[in-house]
Amino acid sequence: MAPVSVDESGRHSQPGRPSGFIGWAVGLYMRWRNADLNAAAIDALVPFPGDRVLEIGFGPGEGLRRLSGMNEIGKLTGIDHSPVMLAMAEQRNRPAIRRGAIDLRLASIDAAPFAERSFDAILAIDCIQYWPNLMGDLAVVRRLLRPGGRVVFAIQGSEADAGAVSPAKLRQALSAVGFVQIATERVRTRPAPSTMIIARRSI
Ligand SMILES: C[S@@+](CC[C@H](N)C(=O)[O-])C[C@H]1O[C@@H](n2cnc3c(N)ncnc32)[C@H](O)[C@@H]1O
Repeated sequence: MAPVSVDESGRHSQPGRPSGFIGWAVGLYMRWRNADLNAAAIDALVPFPGDRVLEIGFGPGEGLRRLSGMNEIGKLTGIDHSPVMLAMAEQRNRPAIRRGAIDLRLASIDAAPFAERSFDAILAIDCIQYWPNLMGDLAVVRRLLRPGGRVVFAIQGSEADAGAVSPAKLRQALSAVGFVQIATERVRTRPAPSTMIIARRSI
């Protein structure tokens, strides 16, 4: 199967890697714009008690804040390659970081500093369209998950109007790197509808 790659357009944009003062403003906007999307992604993930969860591209930290409020959730870890987003997410999640419930790292998915099978569940919300090497980066996600572990990709837009990585393209790429039970959920989020792609690492 031919490798799937994303186009270059969004990768160096502010939402793709927020920086400086404008990046901080972009983070505030994302916190508002993606509030519903974050809630829908966590619903789709269905975290179990004790799950070790990784969020890739945590941005302003809203998803991890919500997760840390869940009963009996296990260790939460996040990576983002933007120093501004790291600072913003740290500010947003200070109490949970202090009590050791959340571990935030400055890292890109292609250089994620974790051992194989470190996580029970992984999510990436409004993020995958910025990954430069879709197939290679999905292979990293697969490696980080335990066998049978779940991944959720939350994509802005519906099947037809999604951006650089459409749900169909993502399903194809997931299957090619060895994910199974690939499912699609369409969600009526505000201010725009979204699509959740859910899959498992094969056992
Ligand atoms: C549009 S924002 C979404 C942020 C957050 N998930 C939300 O829903 O509010 C995308 C985030 O993913 C991060 N990001 C993009 N590509 C990444 C990569 N390859 N590795 C780690 N983080 C990445 C960006 O720095 C940015 O914070």
